[in-house]
Amino acid sequence: MIKGIVFDLDGVLVSTDELHYRAWKALAGRLGIPFDRAQNDRCRGISRMESLEIVLERSPKSYSPEEKAALAAEKNDNYRAMLAGLTPSDALEGAAETLAALRARGYRLALASSSKNAPLILERTGLGAYLDAVVDGSRVTRSKPDPEIFLTAARELGLEPGECAGVDDALAGVESARAAGLLAVGIGPSAAAGAGDYNISRLGELLPLFPGAEGEI
Ligand code: BG6
Ligand code: MG
Repeated sequence: MIKGIVFDLDGVLVSTDELHYRAWKALAGRLGIPFDRAQNDRCRGISRMESLEIVLERSPKSYSPEEKAALAAEKNDNYRAMLAGLTPSDALEGAAETLAALRARGYRLALASSSKNAPLILERTGLGAYLDAVVDGSRVTRSKPDPEIFLTAARELGLEPGECAGVDDALAGVESARAAGLLAVGIGPSAAAGAGDYNISRLGELLPLFPGAEGEI
């Protein structure tokens, strides 16, 4: 029986996946490297430094670890400048309503995001108010698809992994949730690939999947 639901953030609750794309695209443009949306989709769910490797894979020049750290910082500064303009209306359609409804049905809710910027995004959008536990990129040592982040989130909810569902737009995220033993729900690109145990196109579609105690939907 599912008692807890663990959400990814970027591309699930907030359209920050698009801001990541714009910030990486700006960096790639400055460096004269092509970067497209298919590459950006491969950056979903993985860490900032792993994403940078994908951005640089079409570069003829190789970069030292120090140069890579500076490039990642440049992208992050630009990305955070974009995040500064976020407001509650930037949460994805139905995000706040769906989280509120699931909580009202008694589900415990957590975040499992690879982003070190997750606290800022939760604060700007107000979505942090609906979460019982937050696990972000500063709390894990192994990136999705490793199960660490979903296992940590389930533990912080005080639940067994098998009592939780994980919702993620990234293939790496769906793989991470499943490897941790959660029921995997795909949304967006991971749903398009049919990667989840359930695949949805809008957050509101979670409500019939997770009814209340009396089957309320
Ligand atoms: C994930 C995104 O949520 O966070 C990835 O899907 C991103 O694309 C990762 O690389 C790390 O984000 P940040 O904000 O710490 O650079
Ligand atoms: Mg995501």
